[in-house]
Amino acid sequence: MKIHNKLLFAACVILSITRHVQSQNQQGFITLDCGLPSNESPYNDTKNNLTFISDANFIQGGKTGNIQKDLVIKFRKPYTVLRYFPDGSRNCYSLNVTQDTNYLIRAGFLYGNYDGLNNSPRFDLYLGPNIWENIDMGKSGDAVFEEIIHITRSNILEICLVKTGTSTPMISTIELRPLRYDLYPSQTGSLRNLFRYYFTNSGKFVRYPQDIHDRIWIPYLLPEWTPTNTTLNVTDPSEGYDPPQEVLRTGAMPTNVSDPMTITWDLNTATDQVYGYIYIADITQVPANETREFAIVVNDKVHFDPSSPTEV
Ligand SMILES: *[C@@H]1O[C@H](CO)[C@@H](O)[C@H](O)[C@H]1NC(C)=O
Ligand SMILES: *[C@@H]1O[C@H](CO)[C@@H](O)[C@H](O)[C@H]1NC(C)=O
Ligand SMILES: *[C@@H]1O[C@H](CO)[C@@H](O)[C@H](O)[C@H]1NC(C)=O
Ligand SMILES: *[C@@H]1O[C@H](CO)[C@@H](O)[C@H](O)[C@H]1NC(C)=O
Ligand SMILES: *[C@@H]1O[C@H](CO)[C@@H](O)[C@H](O)[C@H]1NC(C)=O
Ligand SMILES: *[C@@H]1O[C@H](CO)[C@@H](O)[C@H](O)[C@H]1NC(C)=O
Ligand SMILES: *[C@@H]1O[C@H](CO)[C@@H](O)[C@H](O)[C@H]1NC(C)=O
Repeated sequence: MKIHNKLLFAACVILSITRHVQSQNQQGFITLDCGLPSNESPYNDTKNNLTFISDANFIQGGKTGNIQKDLVIKFRKPYTVLRYFPDGSRNCYSLNVTQDTNYLIRAGFLYGNYDGLNNSPRFDLYLGPNIWENIDMGKSGDAVFEEIIHITRSNILEICLVKTGTSTPMISTIELRPLRYDLYPSQTGSLRNLFRYYFTNSGKFVRYPQDIHDRIWIPYLLPEWTPTNTTLNVTDPSEGYDPPQEVLRTGAMPTNVSDPMTITWDLNTATDQVYGYIYIADITQVPANETREFAIVVNDKVHFDPSSPTEV
C-alpha cells in the first residue's frame, strides 16, 4: 500500500471462520429524504428497506424541488426530490441525537438540473460551527456523497448549508448511524471518509442490511489483480467493526505473485492525517508447497511485518 502522506495508524484484523448472527434493525438511525412531502413520509427504500422520513420537521427554511423528469428513472426515490435554499446565507438542519455518541453521518446531494438552469451548485457544508466540506457538484457528475464519523457533544446536531457565491445550496439525503463509542477512534476530531473499498469484480455496492452499521462498501479491483471468493462464513473477531460477510467473502491477489498490491490516493492537504482499517482473511487455499506471507507497507515504512493470514 502506498499513499501520498503519512498513515497514522492502521487497524489490521485477521479473520477466521464462523460468526454469530447479528440482529438487523434500524435502531437509532435517522434517515431523511430531503424535500419529501410530509404526506408521503415514511416509506421504505425497495432496495435496502431503509425507512426514509421527510425532513420537514428538522429544518425551518428552504423549498422542495424535483430532479429533471427524464432523470427520475435513473435514480432511486430518495434522490428524486431535494430541498434547496434560495433565502439566507446559512440554513441548518437541527437533529435530535444522543449526546456523546459516535455517529456515522452521511449527506447526499444530487443536482439533477432541478432548477432547469444546468448550473451545478457550489456551497459549503458545516457540522455545527465547523466546516465539513466544500461542495462543488460540477466536479463529480452532479452527485456528491460526504461521510464523516463524529462524536456528538450535545443532544442537538446541526448540519448547515452555507452559500459561498451565487449558487443555491441544495441537499437530497441525510443519514445518521450510531456506532459503538470506541470504533474508529481518532486523536484529533472527526474522521472524514476517503474511501471504503472491498475487493471484487462483482461491481456491486454493499450497505444495509448486509452491513448492520450501514457503511457503504465500494467494489474495487485493479487490472493487475485476480479476484477470489468463498461461500464459507468468515469469522469476525474485530469487536464491533462487523464487516459484512458479503465483503469478507471476496478478495484479491496480485496476478503475478511476486508483485506488490499497491493502492494510492490523494489528500486535500499535505498535513492531513489518515487512518487505515484493513481486514484480511485467507479465503483461497495455497498449494502445500507454497506459503502466503506478506507485509503491509505505507510510504516505505513497514506497519505490519510479514505474516500469514488465518485460513478460512
Ligand atoms: C418498513 O420497514 C420497517 C422496518 O423494517 C417495517 O417495520 C415496516 O413494516 C416496513 N413498512 C412497509 C410499508 O413495508
Ligand atoms: C425487505 O423486507 C421485506 C419484509 O420484511 C423482506 O421480504 C425483503 O427481503 C427485504 N428486502 C431486503 C433487500 O432486505
Ligand atoms: C427534538 O427534541 C425536542 C425536545 O425533546 C422535541 O420537542 C422535538 O419535537 C424533537 N424534534 C423532532 C423532530 O423529533
Ligand atoms: C466467485 O468466483 C466465481 C468464479 O470465479 C465467480 O463466477 C463468481 O461470480 C464470484 N462471486 C462473487 C460474489 O464474487
Ligand atoms: C453461514 O452462517 C449462516 C448464518 O449463521 C448459516 O445459516 C449458514 O449455514 C452458514 N454457512 C456456512 C457455509 O457455514
Ligand atoms: C512477475 O514479476 C516478476 C518481478 O517483477 C517478473 O520477473 C516476472 O517476469 C513476472 N512474471 C510474469 C508472468 O509476468
Ligand atoms: C508447487 O507445486 C506446483 C505443482 O507441482 C508447481 O506448479 C509450483 O510451481 C510449485 N510452487 C513452488 C513455489 O515451487
